Amino acid sequence: MTAQPSTTPVRHLLADDDLTQTEQAAVLDLAERLRTDPYAARSLAGPRSVAVIFDKPTLRTQASFSAGIAELGGFPMMVDGRLAAIGKRETIPDVARVLGRQTAAIVWRTFAQDDLATMAAYAGVPVVNALTDAYHPCQILADLQTLRQHGRPLPGLTFAYVGDGANNMAASYLLGGATAGMHVRIGAPEGFHPEPGLVARAQTLAAANGGSVTVTDAPAEAVAGADAVATDTWVSMGQEDDGLDRETAFAAYQVDDALLRHADGDALFLHCLPAYRGKEVSEEVLEGPRSVVWDEAENRRHAQKAVLTFLLERSGLVEPSGLLAPAAAGDRGAA
Ligand code: NVA
Repeated sequence: MTAQPSTTPVRHLLADDDLTQTEQAAVLDLAERLRTDPYAARSLAGPRSVAVIFDKPTLRTQASFSAGIAELGGFPMMVDGRLAAIGKRETIPDVARVLGRQTAAIVWRTFAQDDLATMAAYAGVPVVNALTDAYHPCQILADLQTLRQHGRPLPGLTFAYVGDGANNMAASYLLGGATAGMHVRIGAPEGFHPEPGLVARAQTLAAANGGSVTVTDAPAEAVAGADAVATDTWVSMGQEDDGLDRETAFAAYQVDDALLRHADGDALFLHCLPAYRGKEVSEEVLEGPRSVVWDEAENRRHAQKAVLTFLLERSGLVEPSGLLAPAAAGDRGAA
């Protein structure tokens, strides 16, 4: 049952570019298999436990990790972020070492990316980013799976994100999309553009993988001819009282039928949810024929099961199931 002590480095998903292009494709292939064959992977059989911790609100993430961990044969150990008060009641390294002795993996939604990195440095088990202020990589894997599910191969696909270009979703679309070899366009107002260092990091990835990165103030320019269009709330969790006038800044960036007319005629619409109708997206787009948001929400479960299985296998913490494509040259930790 218990894996032999291993010298393989523990793998984590802290940001989207923790996976190479071939690793991301392997995870997405497994996610698609699990969509139609949900019990094919049993990487948590035992049951082994996964700690799932929330320092911010949640619905999809809690539901999809809980259901997904159970489907893998495991036990979702919900840790109440308010009770654990990680970093306040106990230091993050202490919490990491305690949880790492009880669990097969740790899933954490919190504020600071550095805190997540500290957890990963001390846990001794895979740590998965369930959203930080900086990134939301599980959501991007679900989005990429949804595009593939709807017959959109990722390499060369033009993907437009319109709205808050400075938030976690924009950052993850940049890194995850560039990893997939997509042409990622961000349409966002001045003052809400992604950090230049992040754009440069995505550009390097895109160049290596056959994609590109564009940042523009003009929403119609971002969306022009796009194969997929996404947006996100204008006010991310934790920004509710930051004093910025986001409604005025973002008013011209709502994804409505008029904006979608600039996209490809078959363009898909994505939104990580929760959605604020009449703000970042119109009712007719969210509920319209282009919208694949309910598939996208479902795919969180499949994508997260696939990534947990990938991280456990590639860390040498479970026996290879044969469900994942073998590591390729250039993959992290590949021989
Ligand atoms: N940018 C949003 C994503 C919600 C899933 C937030 O951080 O609140």
